Amino acid sequence: MIGTEIEKARDLLLRNEVVAIPTETVYGLAGNALSEIAVSKIFEAKNRPHFDPLIVHVSEVSEVSNYVEEIPELAFNLMEHFWPGALTVLLPKKSCIPDLTTSALNEVGIRIPNHPITLELLKSLPFPLAAPSANPFGYISPTSAQHVAEQLGEKIPYILDGGSCSVGIESTVLRVQHNEIEILRLGGISVEDLQRFTSNIHIQQHSSSSPASPGMLTSHYAPRKPVFVGNIRELMHDFASQKIGVLSFKEDFQIESQRILSKTGSFAEAASNLFAYLRELDHMNIDVILAEFLPNENLGRAINDKLKRASAK
Ligand code: TXA
Ligand code: MG
Repeated sequence: MIGTEIEKARDLLLRNEVVAIPTETVYGLAGNALSEIAVSKIFEAKNRPHFDPLIVHVSEVSEVSNYVEEIPELAFNLMEHFWPGALTVLLPKKSCIPDLTTSALNEVGIRIPNHPITLELLKSLPFPLAAPSANPFGYISPTSAQHVAEQLGEKIPYILDGGSCSVGIESTVLRVQHNEIEILRLGGISVEDLQRFTSNIHIQQHSSSSPASPGMLTSHYAPRKPVFVGNIRELMHDFASQKIGVLSFKEDFQIESQRILSKTGSFAEAASNLFAYLRELDHMNIDVILAEFLPNENLGRAINDKLKRASAK
């Protein structure tokens, strides 16, 4: 059921149920992060493997010390600056966070989401919310309540509708070590944004099965239709005998089944459209999706990373 009642979401969460919640990045599938019962229900509804840890959502920076052993100065400065926002910081967890929540890792990922409804919900609850993206494991993340309903509607009691997600791609996941930032997942806060705090930034390379960074599994965010990324004009030629769909950055290829991420070439607009357009193309009567990389800068880097994973076979 889709609705806008914060009170109803709160009551369900207090009873250890799971509820889909809006955030500025993507919709999350939320449950009490301190309850193994609620966290188990999240894994079950998503069909998510237990080695893939959940992010814990809070509403105030001052709450973080309840859940982590220590906060390095650089990590604190990043939180103060970017929160509420699309940044998840990994920190050594306290034992009140169940091992199930972090897949038995010593660190917990924490963020404050930037969505008024979810912030109000979090403030009304006596516990933080664990919330992975509200999609079945391996499929494209949802950026509207309808997306969640399409796939998880039968499995969860309530979807709190907060409209379309403004950022549209998941949070950037990082850890701070000494004075270095290690990025485990590219996302809504760009490398350029982070460079204002340190030039010492390392982006973890793709891995196909590293359990320490499961969001980096290669075949992630994938539509069911095969996706090919390259020069769209050449790909259109190569796939001339098939029914094609096109996902371009800003160019109009004058074909019926196409989506243009941002006609004005805005990275932010492209990010906010990316997952919805991939879903729309996935539902069209086509055989393949042909896409192109964006310039590898700002949010273009995160979008390219998603396109690579969507196309991984
Ligand atoms: O924007 C977001 O981050 C959204 C919204 C709902 O907040 N959530 C989200 O969660 O994208 P999820 O579960 O789909 O992706 C979280 C990823 C994991 O797959 C993993 O790569 C990384 O974050 N992660 C979380 N906790 C971690 C930990 N303790 N150690 C290493 N990586 C962790
Ligand atoms: Mg996800």
